[in-house]
Amino acid sequence: MKIILKDTTYSSEELLIFPVSKQYLDGLKGTDSITKKLCQLRDLGDFRAKNEAVCHFLTGEAKGVKRVIALGLGEEKSIDKESVRRAYSVVVNTILNLKVKSISTTIPKCDLTIEDLSCSLVEGIELSNYFFQKYISEKERLKQPITSLTIYIGKSLKTTGLKRLISDTQTICKYTKFARDLVNENSDDKYSLKFFNKIKSTCTENKLKVTKLDENALKKLKMNLVLAVNAGSAFPPAFLEIVYTGNKNSSKKVALIGKGLTFDAGGLNLKPTKAIEDMKLDMAGAAAVASAVNCAAELKLKQNIVGIIPLVENMIGPKAFKPGDIITSHSKKTVEIRNTDAEGRLVLADAISYTINKYKPELIIDLATLTGACLVALGEYYAGAMTNNQEKLDLLIESSKETGENIWQLPLYNDIGKRLKSDIADLQNSSPNKFGGTIFAGMFLKEFVNDTQWIHLDIAGPAFFEGKHYYMGKGGTGFGVRLLANFLRNIKL
Ligand code: BES
Ligand code: ZN
Ligand code: ZN
Repeated sequence: MKIILKDTTYSSEELLIFPVSKQYLDGLKGTDSITKKLCQLRDLGDFRAKNEAVCHFLTGEAKGVKRVIALGLGEEKSIDKESVRRAYSVVVNTILNLKVKSISTTIPKCDLTIEDLSCSLVEGIELSNYFFQKYISEKERLKQPITSLTIYIGKSLKTTGLKRLISDTQTICKYTKFARDLVNENSDDKYSLKFFNKIKSTCTENKLKVTKLDENALKKLKMNLVLAVNAGSAFPPAFLEIVYTGNKNSSKKVALIGKGLTFDAGGLNLKPTKAIEDMKLDMAGAAAVASAVNCAAELKLKQNIVGIIPLVENMIGPKAFKPGDIITSHSKKTVEIRNTDAEGRLVLADAISYTINKYKPELIIDLATLTGACLVALGEYYAGAMTNNQEKLDLLIESSKETGENIWQLPLYNDIGKRLKSDIADLQNSSPNKFGGTIFAGMFLKEFVNDTQWIHLDIAGPAFFEGKHYYMGKGGTGFGVRLLANFLRNIKL
């Protein structure tokens, strides 16, 4: 979407969005035909600027403006970045059936800075302006994305800094959509090698080094947990490493690790109907990591980052790994498989110990659609966050508040950790006790982290939505990309 900033007043628009708070509308005096109409609608009681209310009206082409959508923002003091994103997503969702490709908006009066306002409305529009239509053949059903946005930023504003911020916001949105595409894709169109091919050209464009370990390399490295999970698959496993060096003067780096199950059938502990349908989503962590590293590179963030992406498939079949198997992990700890559907923690365990050995990162953040229990605990709009370093998680929570990508901390505590012990191996991957499943999985990962600072994000909920939710459509949400971009921009290691 093309964005134009103008310091003039609006004229000749296909569609003008006119955002107003309650206080602004109450005090409004009609000075031109559009504000006069708004006053009439207010006086009739048809439009009161309630948060997320939209009121569509024609202007008789006053100033060449064809249509106006008055957009309610509610109480002035309650306007924040997320409410702006959401309000604009409501507009985009209501105009989808109009044949409007080019939209414009004025800037509302409120306490947010012009920078925050512009970037949030751009985000709300950009993220709503996404349609995964690859598999739709009926032309008349295809939605037409908005192609241009004009923002009337008011008079005498220095636009250079603002332009840069807006274009960075668009970059972040682009990579959020890149992650959504990967998640929404057919499982067989994104298995290990195909996933690698899909991200390679983007990595090359961003001058990122991406390497792939194949099955033989994984065998040599004794990544037996990764290999075990993939054993029932017709596809080979792959383990990707993307390296971004944004700060040559420092050896400190952040490692991002993404769970990359291109399909999770559950293995021999096969998932039943109603649990298996969406399991192509189980690589959403991998998609977020690949996108976030590329995003950081395109934004030229002054940070050293490695993206670690183990890609496997958890299937049934004669070669599949079995409940009761005891497997020696890359870290040498042995794991008794109690449930083949608790596979994500296995793959991540090897990925974590490999990453620590090879890169010695200052901080690890892993993103994984790890447990259904996390959805039960927090619902679909919050990711569960667990850590061994409160200070770093507090910073990530700040980023979460900024971006509206919600995370909520869960405790890692030893009463649940005790359930990790197996009678015949060092650890078991699942316990008969059905409570605290998200924390159990977090405690399992912690066994492989040692002293490295680490944050675990269980994104099983927010990675994929069953239906539209503001600027998220049904399907992959790209959760994590905006959160990580914000965090990596701000953090000093
Ligand atoms: N990929 C699933 C978790 C999941 C569930 C993600 C729903 C997104 C939506 C994971 O591998 C899994 O199957 N976890 C099991 C663990 C159990 C067997 C201990 C679960 O949550 O049921
Ligand atoms: Zn599973
Ligand atoms: Zn899984």
